[in-house]
Amino acid sequence: MLVLGIESSCDDTAAAVVRDGREILSSVVESQAAQHAPFGGVVPEIAGRSHLRRILPVIERALEKAGIELKDIDGLAVTRRPGLIGSLLVGLSAAKAIAFARRLPLVGVHHIEGHAYAATMENEVACPALALVVSGGHTALYRMLGPSDLQPIAQTLDDAAGEAFDKVASMLGLAYPGGPEISKLALKGRRDAIRFPRYSPKKGGVGFSFSGLKTAVLYHLRGQDALAPTPAPEEIENRADIAASFEAAVVDTLVTQTLNAAKEEGFARIVVAGGVACNQHLRERMCLSAEELGMRATFPSPAYCSDNAAMIAGLGYHLLNQEGDASLNLDALAR
Ligand code: KG4
Ligand code: ZN
Repeated sequence: MLVLGIESSCDDTAAAVVRDGREILSSVVESQAAQHAPFGGVVPEIAGRSHLRRILPVIERALEKAGIELKDIDGLAVTRRPGLIGSLLVGLSAAKAIAFARRLPLVGVHHIEGHAYAATMENEVACPALALVVSGGHTALYRMLGPSDLQPIAQTLDDAAGEAFDKVASMLGLAYPGGPEISKLALKGRRDAIRFPRYSPKKGGVGFSFSGLKTAVLYHLRGQDALAPTPAPEEIENRADIAASFEAAVVDTLVTQTLNAAKEEGFARIVVAGGVACNQHLRERMCLSAEELGMRATFPSPAYCSDNAAMIAGLGYHLLNQEGDASLNLDALAR
């Protein structure tokens, strides 16, 4: 069964063709990062308009790369939640129009479930597993009982890990999105140069918080005077040490909380997905630390960690089989 997937929840316009939920025939992602970079983050109005211009060419390229035509498609899957409402509506409208014109079945996919599914798409992972979804908008742990069956265990109290990467990158004068820039700079620095705080819930259990860490970096830059201005990037000494120490603190927090949850919940299998799962230090630390405890951590390859439509088409295949066709009244939801 060939499924065309469409993803437009944030600032990537993406389409993909996947056979039987696993075999990726094509995956096209057009990033809008350059358009949002001058603003240091995603501007919803720009994102929506940009999706509108790109969505049809991106879908055409996905079909072309897969070597097929629209008439060969058996079903459609589109991200319907969560995300920027104006962005989601562009993908959803395109999917509905194709479904209506071609009389094809259509399903709406939850973006976070799509991310978690991505980790099981390239590697055989038996559920139940513990899923960590860590992106620019989310940092959360789930019991993954099946491809589209996620039960929340814990989520961040404030910023997502990716958001913290983006904000600290901006303090250091690095480009948006900040995650890859910080990782690059961190390679030249020492992880133990500065001891930034690692969050753990006071009352036990598991959880995440990154706003304290972000503030700690800010005070490291300004000194202890709360009213002092943030120094210009070129005046910051040892930027590489700050980047490496910050990255180490985020990774430590993610690994510790995830492994604590795995121990508490009795999971031997962990899947990690979302844009921050591209981070090489996180990939290495999580895999090694899990192994030491007799557990196994699995990541999607980097192309399928950040936003893409292959994960949407892949999960869509299961939903089409389980739930069948959604009505054309299918709506987009911000949360
Ligand atoms: O999953 P994603 O593409 O979009 C959302 O659904 O949010 O994640 C984007 C986030 C950004 O915050 C970006 O800075 C972060 O993932 N990211 C990274 C790396 N690559 C992307 N963070 C840390 N290290 C990386 N190598
Ligand atoms: Zn995402």
